Amino acid sequence: AIERTFSILKPDATERNLTGAVNAVIEKAGLRIIAQRRIRMTRDQAETFYAVHKARPFFGELVDFMISGPVVVQVLEGEGAIAKYREVMGATDPAKAADGTIRKLYARSVGENSVHGSDAPETAAQEIAQFFSGNDIAG
Ligand code: CMP
Repeated sequence: AIERTFSILKPDATERNLTGAVNAVIEKAGLRIIAQRRIRMTRDQAETFYAVHKARPFFGELVDFMISGPVVVQVLEGEGAIAKYREVMGATDPAKAADGTIRKLYARSVGENSVHGSDAPETAAQEIAQFFSGNDIAG
């Protein structure tokens, strides 16, 4: 089925001017970028976004990193987009990511791992709704 997933190009990617390079990998994989905005996340937004990880030891570090510079938030659309984008991103830890994946190509570490993608349809819908309204999405 055609799905939508939510993507973030993280501060380590924008810092190195990699928006276009990452987008090229996304588009080559057959995913369509149907909404995109460059923002600076507030601490509140980052804490809400990552609320599921609140109890993890890396939560504070994760939030600090996500607000350390601009990010690009996106909605991606395509056949099986949620699983496909996770495949294109590669493993969370770049040392374990497959060749050709965004994280293998660009990520610096498990924390500064260049991209985020939704893990399931429910989280995709919730994450998209946190950052985009219907009018901002042109499928
Ligand atoms: P993301 O897909 O954005 O969702 C949760 C994030 O937590 C994950 O990517 C990683 O960037 C981050 N993360 C996971 N494990 C660790 C860790 N051990 N140390 C720091 N950050 C982590």
